Amino acid sequence: MKFFIDTANLAQIKEAQDLGVLDGVTTNPSLMAKEGIKGQNNILKHYVDICKIVTGDVSAEVIATDFEGIIKEGEALADLHERIVVKVPMIRDGVKAIKYFTDKGIKTNCTLVFSAGQALLAAKAGATYVSPFIGRLDDISVDGIGLIEDIRTIYDVHGFETEILAASIRHPLHIVQCAKAGADVATCPLSAITALLNHPLTDKGLAQFLADAKK
Ligand code: E4P
Repeated sequence: MKFFIDTANLAQIKEAQDLGVLDGVTTNPSLMAKEGIKGQNNILKHYVDICKIVTGDVSAEVIATDFEGIIKEGEALADLHERIVVKVPMIRDGVKAIKYFTDKGIKTNCTLVFSAGQALLAAKAGATYVSPFIGRLDDISVDGIGLIEDIRTIYDVHGFETEILAASIRHPLHIVQCAKAGADVATCPLSAITALLNHPLTDKGLAQFLADAKK
């Protein structure tokens, strides 16, 4: 399973890259706003800055919700850097745009996916990635990991090549559950990735080894 980091924070992206386990980055308009990135030129420059740090795919989301607007924005984003993946919402014109981008060889990430039916449509349109939001489903008492399992089954039965990019991950257990459920990618906050390091028996065992090494 690939690890993407779900942030627009350059320091956090660098930290994850330095850890040696980073395969890519996802952003969204809320994450860009959180970093105070405003104005079209600054936003585009920020995407390029992210691409210079990592070696994998970087999802950049369109704001337009009509077909022509999505195409115009998406093509401009794709032109920015070879690592850019155009992130498109799961709406009618979004599905049409994903098919258009697929036919042009532009990578896409279909975002805001909350059902197996939506994931099926994204795959039919040829999306490179589909992003089911597991945390937001859990937030409303719907089983997010169960959705990953359902999409995995459907894609395997029918041979779809769209990669399942588990999004809206809240904690390290989500990452482990996504790996068990067969997600191709998990996009996570840095805190969830680094939390995977922790186990009290590791700390206790290391302290003992270091103490014994001095004897
Ligand atoms: C990633 O592609 C999504 O935009 C992101 O994971 C959403 O996460 P949230 O539910 O924590 O906002």
